Amino acid sequence: MARAVREQLGQEHRYVHVLRVARLADRLAARHGESTSNARIAGMLHDLARLFPATLLLAECERRGMPVDEFERANPIVLHARLGAELARERFGITSESVLSAIRKHTVPAARMSRLDEILYLADGLEAGRSYPGRAALEALAFRDLAAAMLGVIRSSVADLQARGVPVAPQTFAALAAYERNEVGSSELPLAPQRSRACPT
Ligand SMILES: [Fe+2]
Ligand SMILES: [Fe+2]
Repeated sequence: MARAVREQLGQEHRYVHVLRVARLADRLAARHGESTSNARIAGMLHDLARLFPATLLLAECERRGMPVDEFERANPIVLHARLGAELARERFGITSESVLSAIRKHTVPAARMSRLDEILYLADGLEAGRSYPGRAALEALAFRDLAAAMLGVIRSSVADLQARGVPVAPQTFAALAAYERNEVGSSELPLAPQRSRACPT
């Protein structure tokens, strides 16, 4: 799989990123009692469409009859997650709905996320190739408490997007609100949103 992913991505920098995401997802899955092989596969395949230009993302989604909402039409880059799941199915024969779901939700989180969804989202946002204040603390938190880490990383991502003037998907705000509602033991979180990751990832 590694060689095929490398060829498909066509960029060494992106390949190194997916390797780091797969490794961190594997460790988080082991810690939280999830399938480590599903976590690794989701990590390896999550960015298959990341380097597609906007016109190709829209065309490939439309060709498959995938619904494209208003935000996605205005910000096609986020479609790399949903299209990436289709490519994982078509080109790598992935049939596990939990792996495909995690790939679909790795850029725009959902209000309801499975544990594997959370693990991939966190591994993508927290892999060591990213550098921003609070990253290491959030990574450590992810090993103790997935929901608390999700809240921290979504906050961080929203703050970063807003600081750069990049529109934030309505679903991201819905996910943030959902994690805030369920917030428990938040004393471990940074007090203020941290300057964060390069998004969308
Ligand atoms: Fe991505
Ligand atoms: Fe990524």
